[in-house]
Amino acid sequence: MNSYIYNCFNCNKEFSAELIEDNFHYLCPDCGKAEKNRPLKGVLTVEYNYDEFKKKLNREEFLRLPPGKFWLYPLLWPINFTTFNETILNQLVLPEDQLLSFKYKGADISLMDETRNPTLSYKDRASSLVALKAKELGIKEISAASTGNAGSSLAGVCARMGLTAHIFVPSSIPSAKRIQIQSFGANIYLVDGSYDDAFDLCFEVSKEKKWYNRNTAYNPLTIEGKKSAAYDIFISSKGKLPDIIFIPVGDGVIISGIYKGFYDLKKLGWIEKLPKLIAVQAEGSNALVRYLEKGKFEFKPAETIADSICTGAPRNLFMAADAVKITNGKAISVGDDEILSAQKLIANQFKILAEPASSAAFAGYLKLSEANEIASKEKVLLIITGNGLKNITVSEEWNKIPKSLSFSGWKDFFSIK
Ligand SMILES: Cc1ncc(COP(=O)(O)O)c(C=O)c1O
Ligand SMILES: [Zn+2]
Repeated sequence: MNSYIYNCFNCNKEFSAELIEDNFHYLCPDCGKAEKNRPLKGVLTVEYNYDEFKKKLNREEFLRLPPGKFWLYPLLWPINFTTFNETILNQLVLPEDQLLSFKYKGADISLMDETRNPTLSYKDRASSLVALKAKELGIKEISAASTGNAGSSLAGVCARMGLTAHIFVPSSIPSAKRIQIQSFGANIYLVDGSYDDAFDLCFEVSKEKKWYNRNTAYNPLTIEGKKSAAYDIFISSKGKLPDIIFIPVGDGVIISGIYKGFYDLKKLGWIEKLPKLIAVQAEGSNALVRYLEKGKFEFKPAETIADSICTGAPRNLFMAADAVKITNGKAISVGDDEILSAQKLIANQFKILAEPASSAAFAGYLKLSEANEIASKEKVLLIITGNGLKNITVSEEWNKIPKSLSFSGWKDFFSIK
């Protein structure tokens, strides 16, 4: 069994794993606060005994592992993997070939393709770790608030692992995501309100019902789970990391997770420098951009066609802001029109149908590249976080329903007798 502790992002206090897990603390027991329409305070991160691990783990051996199977290096996770057999773990495998390389207008661009994950989004990384922890703790019911992907992911992972999922979503959820949740047999609660309302409701109900709560950032294992992409990028690039990574940001947990993965690798002495992390938000949902500009959080109801990154109060705002600052990155906003044309361009250039939220990453790249803010020698990576089939209504904008003709009408069209 590996040893780890929890560390509070805000007050920096350290807590033993037993204290946090046995008492079902999610946020810092001292300063943690979950308030309506506000980022969370006292989010916990997991810290390992890196010096001890360095003696057991070797960079070259690590780089020979296949990507997409995080349990192959159990020392870097807050889980006791000895209680799980291969059959359970193999249900959580991600594709090995996620890191794809392209040329775009002379530039080297790589894509981390999360569109082929078990439930077609990046969220499977967090759901897998949370579900394993629930099983380890002997909990059978897990809840989550979601714009759609975290919910469909948790529903899928729970179905595979014999757990019950309770999912709170805004009633405006795209129907593909709703149908995924329902198909996997999860309990779904449509909330007539925003994602922010669903988050707060899930929080209150789960506390009462004693469900294990997967709410993003609130459950520290969501950040920890999402770090696996950094390891997969490290392994797939054979240790040659990109210089800049574009990440779509809603609650700021994916960006914090990716930061955490690189942080671990640096602590292990396996990398020297962290890639610059560029947070890309939609103009109508850009609380992180505003926070970094003004130094204070202001709640503003969010609105964007990119439903997955539509949140007025990013729950992990403070950690995401740090990830940007520490890596010398940046937070930028892109318009819905830019997101849509980036979605079309990704399909056209890279042959991947990406969700609007994921397309924001490419829109962000185009914006900085047009402003000459990316040096030609810099290697760029885009995180393509979700599959375009998750929200097809938005893509109808550039895929108008084509004309329909009768059998004979088409024969006339092709000049066939
Ligand atoms: C496809 C997709 N991209 C990006 C994000 C943003 O992730 P985070 O909320 O952790 O910033 C989400 C979150 O739902 C998502 O589903
Ligand atoms: Zn604290």
